[in-house]
Order: sequence, then structure tokens, then C-alpha cells
Amino acid sequence: MSGSIDRRRLFQLLGGSVIGGGAYAGLGYAARQERKAEENDCRGGKLWDLHHDLFGSGILLSPQKLGGGTHAVDLATNRTLAWISYWNYGDTCPISHHLAAYPSDDPRKGFEFINSTQGGENVLIYGIPTRIKEKGLLEGNGQGNHLYRVRYDGAQMTLVEDVAESTGIGLGVHTVIYPDAQGFAGADGQKDITAFFDRPRGTEKTKVQMAFRGDWKAKDTSSLERAWLGGGTLRFTRLVEPSETGKYELEGSKGNKINWEMAPMSELLVERGQIPGDSPSSLTGLDAVVHHPGNRWSAVILRMCSAALIVDRANWEPVACLHMPKGSPGNLPVKKVGSGPDAWEVTFDDVKNPAHEAGFSPDGKSFVMMNNLRQNNIPVFDTSDPDPRRWKKVTYVEDPDWTGQYPSPFHLCFSMDRTKMFLSVLAPKPRDSEVWVVDARTWKVIKKFRNVGPDCQTMAVSYDGKYVFQIFSGFQRLSCGLFVFTQDTLEPVGYFPNFGGHHDCVVVPTKVEHLLNSRCTTL
Ligand code: CU
Ligand code: CU
Repeated sequence: MSGSIDRRRLFQLLGGSVIGGGAYAGLGYAARQERKAEENDCRGGKLWDLHHDLFGSGILLSPQKLGGGTHAVDLATNRTLAWISYWNYGDTCPISHHLAAYPSDDPRKGFEFINSTQGGENVLIYGIPTRIKEKGLLEGNGQGNHLYRVRYDGAQMTLVEDVAESTGIGLGVHTVIYPDAQGFAGADGQKDITAFFDRPRGTEKTKVQMAFRGDWKAKDTSSLERAWLGGGTLRFTRLVEPSETGKYELEGSKGNKINWEMAPMSELLVERGQIPGDSPSSLTGLDAVVHHPGNRWSAVILRMCSAALIVDRANWEPVACLHMPKGSPGNLPVKKVGSGPDAWEVTFDDVKNPAHEAGFSPDGKSFVMMNNLRQNNIPVFDTSDPDPRRWKKVTYVEDPDWTGQYPSPFHLCFSMDRTKMFLSVLAPKPRDSEVWVVDARTWKVIKKFRNVGPDCQTMAVSYDGKYVFQIFSGFQRLSCGLFVFTQDTLEPVGYFPNFGGHHDCVVVPTKVEHLLNSRCTTL
């Protein structure tokens, strides 16, 4: 079946079950008594067919954010395959934040994923009348920044490792698996830290391959307000593992520069001094990494600097710095300024606006990142050159709707046939957000799904090329769910129930190459 919904098939399926029920009701009482109990194998049958036709056959994994756990939903059967809740493991403030799944030949028999959590004061930014802080639940394990490695074994989910505990590096935001599935990167925008981790086998524990911190030094230090607008220097430092303990000391809230995260589009709150902490003035907003499909380059996302620092994973050195704002140079030089520990610097004449979610196209030829707040557009870089120092800003996705701060382009992903880019377009609470489609060859907006739901977050595509799944989290207390549309004909299909404040989603890949369209290349 192509992406379009075969309505006749749908009616056949629905009609089929009605006729079956009618025939049974027609039997007399005695006849019904004599009959052997009917049996239905509920794992298959009409409902299975119906849902399979409607929503595909993947396993959709989604973290519940303030719900405190993660669900895997079997899209073919409309059943929750399995779920996990992190408070059961002694986490007193488990904000199940972002996740990425490793490929599995048959996810129904088992798969593994990495799930970051926030904690601490991040629970207080939604206006919930809670006494959770007074009750002491934001201390200790409730500080968050866990990196849970979870395994589904074909029957249930089990927490197999807290990577933050085994390595000493706690990171609470985006988690992104390498294109070869041999490890992952995590990041945290409160600490300005990113770390790259291996993928352990069997009962081994995860190890840190490399870790870095970003720090901002403003040119104009007279006010926070001018600290980024007025330009400055990004310093990128390699973190050194304490050799005696073999463990970093960055668990929980250790290393936080600000007391809670910059929510989407909240970068200007830092300029206004409205997010307190130990060091807001040195904030780079390093909350994510995305990987180039070639598996060598990783882009370190720096929200406050409106930049993506390109790191070579072959020698763990940064090589180039892509700068997003319209009217600013697109590729800034990176200079090594120290060793033991290694440090590099990038100089910015100014930073016209913050930028956030980003990603590479699955063919590796393009990179995009969202210019937010002061500019409202998407710069497109040509990344086809083998040397990132020659990657160039070539055009911008722009739209008459994108004036002022909202609506604003947010998360992105690409269609399996690589012809389209999908965007969630955020509107402030309690308004519904949208999903837009951009032609990935001309970079023009070709479709807008209006009024999808409040707080549209990431999208996932089905790897058979049929569907796109848009999760919306309802700003943690409003309506939430999963909106589905077809990848090729761009028809709305409908909604799938999803409980909790879902903040991210991914279809579990069944092949390594699916990672190019998964939580690996895009956020
Ligand atoms: Cu997030
Ligand atoms: Cu983000």
C-alpha cells in the first residue's frame, strides 16, 4: 500500500467485524449454550490489520518527561509493548527527557535505548503548585542528569545502567546515537558539557571516550544583556578524567552554570538575568550533538553562540565552527590555544540571535539549525565538501508566518526518500503548534498542518517510508498525543493516544542505516 490511506480497505475491516458480531447475536440461547467457547487469538486479527494499515508496524519509543518514565508503543497493535518508570529505581525527580534507540533486527524480541533525565529545579518551571522542593525530593538522586541505559528483553524493560553513575558524567538533555551504532553522545545546556560514550557489550559498563566543556567570554562585560549580542570568544576545553578515581565529578547538579534549563525559546531569559545560577555569563547553551552520516564529524550545538562546532571523532579535535544568523559569516576559524588540557577558541564579532535544534540530511549534504527569537528562519549549509572548513551557508528557509518570535521552527527530521524535511513549528501555550513540510531540494515550505496540538516536539519517521509521527507534549499538563501523517502524499492520518508529557520520540531502527533518519543525525 502506498502512503495514502485505502479507505475502502478501512471500511472492509470495520464492516467485517460488525457482520461477525451480528451472526453470533442471531443464534438462540440454547444454541449458544451448546457451543464450545469461542477463542480468538487477540495478537492478530482485524484490529491488528486495521491499525497496521493506519499507523504502520514500528515500535515507537517516547519519554514522558514529567510523567517520569518511558513507553514503547507497538503501532501495529495499539498496545504498549512495555514501559518503565524511573522513580521505582530511587530517582526522586525523574524528568524522562530525551532518548535514542540502538537498532534491533526484531524490536519485539528486544532492543536497547539511552534515556537522559533532568531533575532538580527543572520540575519547578511549569507553574505547578508543588512542594516537591520543600519535601527534599530534589536533593541526592533527585538532582537529575541521569543517563539511563534500558533494555527491553521481549517481555519487559529493565534499567541496566545509569551511565552518569558509572562514568561520573551526568547530562540531562539530548542523547544521540552514532551512525554506526557503536556509542552515543550526550549533552547538557545547564553545564555546557558534552561527552561521547562507547557502547558496552554484555555486562560491561559504559566508558567515556571524550568529554568537553564550552565557556563564553563576552567582549562587553558591563551587562548580561550585551554579553552575547556584543560578541565574544567561545572556549572549548577537553575535560580530563581524574586518574586516581577513574571517574569524572559531574554527576547530578555538579557543574551547573544555571539552576534550570533554558526551555525552548528561553535564551533571552538568560540575557535578562531571569535564570539564576553560578555562572550565567559564561553560558554557551551546549545542549546537544548531532552526527554527520559519514560517522566522522559531530556537530556540537551551542544555543547562546548560535553555532555548531564541528568535532572530528577520529582525533577528538574541533575543526570548524558554523555560525547561524543571517548576515553573519557562516564558517568561523577554530584556533588551538592551549594543551594539557587542550583548549580551542572561536571569536565572534557579534551574535545576532540564539539558535537551537539542528540536524544533517540523511545524505550528509546539508546541515540546518533554527535561528530563533531575534531572527526566525533556518540557515541551510552545504556540507558536501569532505572538509568541514569549506562547509558554506547557502540559503535560508523563510516564511511570511515567521515574523516576530512565534510561530517558530523547532525540531526537524527528513523523509526516507530524502526529498522532504519535516519541521515542528512551535506556538506558545496554550496554542496549538503545527507541522510543516519543506522541499529538501528547493528549501521552500510546501505544506502546513495547522492546529496539530499544544507543544509539538520531535518527529519520527517510519523506516518503510510511509508515515511521520509528531509527538506533542501539551506543555506538561495540556492535551498530548501523537499526530500521524503520510510521508509521501502528506495526508493527515489521525491521532494515536500517548499518555504523559511526551517530549521526544523515536521509532526503534531495525537496521543500522535507519539511524540516518533517526535520533542520530537530527533533533
Ligand atoms: Cu528537551
Ligand atoms: Cu534541544
